[in-house]
Amino acid sequence: MSNSTDFNSPVIDCQRAHRSVRHYTDEPITDSLLAMLIESAQSAASSSFIQAYSVVRVNRPVARERIAKAAGGQRWIEQAPVFLVCCADLRRIDLACREQDRGELEGWSEHSLAAVVDCALFGQNLLLAAESIGLGGVFIGGIRNEPQVIADELALPDLVMPVFGLCLGWPNERALQQPVKPRMPVELILHQDRYREADTDAIGAYDATMAIYYRERGAGARMDDWSAATANAIQGKKRKHMLDFMRDRGFFKR
Ligand SMILES: Cc1cc2nc3c(=O)[nH]c(=O)nc-3n(C[C@H](O)[C@H](O)[C@H](O)COP(=O)(O)O)c2cc1C
Repeated sequence: MSNSTDFNSPVIDCQRAHRSVRHYTDEPITDSLLAMLIESAQSAASSSFIQAYSVVRVNRPVARERIAKAAGGQRWIEQAPVFLVCCADLRRIDLACREQDRGELEGWSEHSLAAVVDCALFGQNLLLAAESIGLGGVFIGGIRNEPQVIADELALPDLVMPVFGLCLGWPNERALQQPVKPRMPVELILHQDRYREADTDAIGAYDATMAIYYRERGAGARMDDWSAATANAIQGKKRKHMLDFMRDRGFFKR
C-alpha cells in the first residue's frame, strides 16, 4: 500500500491534519477572503450541475445568540469570526423549471438527496479550502435541534433547508494544540467487490486506540471508546421533528 509520504501533496497533508476548531483569535476574516473561499468551495462537483445549495453568513449578534442557544448552547457560534449556515436549496431549480415551462418541483426524495449531497460536498470543500490557508472551523449539526428557529431567523423560504452551520476563524493557541482524532483503519471502510460485515476484532482494536485518545484528552466516562461514544451520541440525535420539518419546506415529500 502506498503511504501519503510517497507523494508530495499539500492537499493530502492538509486533509490529514484536520481537526475541528472551536476556539479562535480575534483576527477577522475579510470579506474578500471569505468570498474567495466560497468561490473555491463552489468548484465541488454537483449532481447534474444543479448547484443546489446556498450559504447564509450570520452577522447579527442577536441572531448568533439565538442560533447558539437553539444548537444547545454552543458558544463558538457566537464567538467565531464567521458563522455560516449551509442550506440545501432547490428554489433556483424550481424557478428554472417553471421558467422553462417544465412544471414545478414536487418534493421528490431523489431531488432532496441530491441537494443535501451537493450542500455537503460544498461544505467540506469550503472547510478544506479554509484549512489550507491556516484557518480552522467546525460544522454545526446542532442547528437541526430547532431548525424552525434557524429558518425564521434567516428568513429561509420554501425549498431552502438549513443542513449544517460552519464556524470559521483563525485557531487560537489552545486549538492549535489539539491532537488529530484517529480515524478507523482503511480495512473497515474499504470493501472489495462485496460488502462484508465489520470485523469485530478490528473494531475492538480501533476502540482501544480511541480509548487512549479520549483518556489523553481527558474526556468523560461515557467517551471510553469509539463504540461507547457513538452509541451514546446517536441516542441524542434522533431529532424526531426533522421529517415533518423537511416535508414542510418541500423536501422528501414523496
Ligand atoms: C455534519 C456535521 C455536524 C457536526 N455538528 C457539530 C456540532 O453541532 N457541534 C460540534 O462541536 N461539532 C460538530 N461536528 C464536528 C464533529 O464532532 C467532528 O467532526 C468529529 O468529532 C471528528 O472530530 P474532528 O473533526 O476534530 O476530526 C459536526 C461534524 C459534522 C460533519
